[in-house]
Amino acid sequence: MDWALISEQVSALISSEPDVIANMANVSAVLFEALNQGGHSVNWCGFYRVNRPRELILGPFQGKVACLRIPFGSGVCGACAESGETLVVKDTDAFPGHIACDSASKSEVCVPVRDASGDMIGLLDIDSSVLDSFDAETVLGLEACMAKFAREQPETPPLRVKHAKH
Ligand code: SME
Repeated sequence: MDWALISEQVSALISSEPDVIANMANVSAVLFEALNQGGHSVNWCGFYRVNRPRELILGPFQGKVACLRIPFGSGVCGACAESGETLVVKDTDAFPGHIACDSASKSEVCVPVRDASGDMIGLLDIDSSVLDSFDAETVLGLEACMAKFAREQPETPPLRVKHAKH
């Protein structure tokens, strides 16, 4: 896979848009498509965001309905959030506490997502229906994409609209 090209695509997509959720949506779509074209049999690709102390909430994704909240320390995502390090699981059945959102998932990778100051704002989670799908080159490529993502995320506060009748 051409990770230089994919990370450039990520950069181009997010560079003019400060909204982190919109950017996560497009990045999940780009990675889902690129990984599947590259033969990774990805069945779920998306983000979890830190929204309370020591808890993740489901973010934008491609794939089946997934669990909404994951405490730090729980499952693959919670373990990644706890350590702040990329976590590659070659066989999800052999990972104690793995949370099976989709029974098709056989291997998984989680990569922390950081803001410009280096604080973790969430993580990228990718599941494959094939055992041991995420080799070192793929992991480095995903980390490079998330490093680009980190640099450009000033979060915009959501606006509220008041209508006269309500
Ligand atoms: N398998 C993850 C849960 C999230 S889904 O894969 C989308 C885990 O064990 O944390």
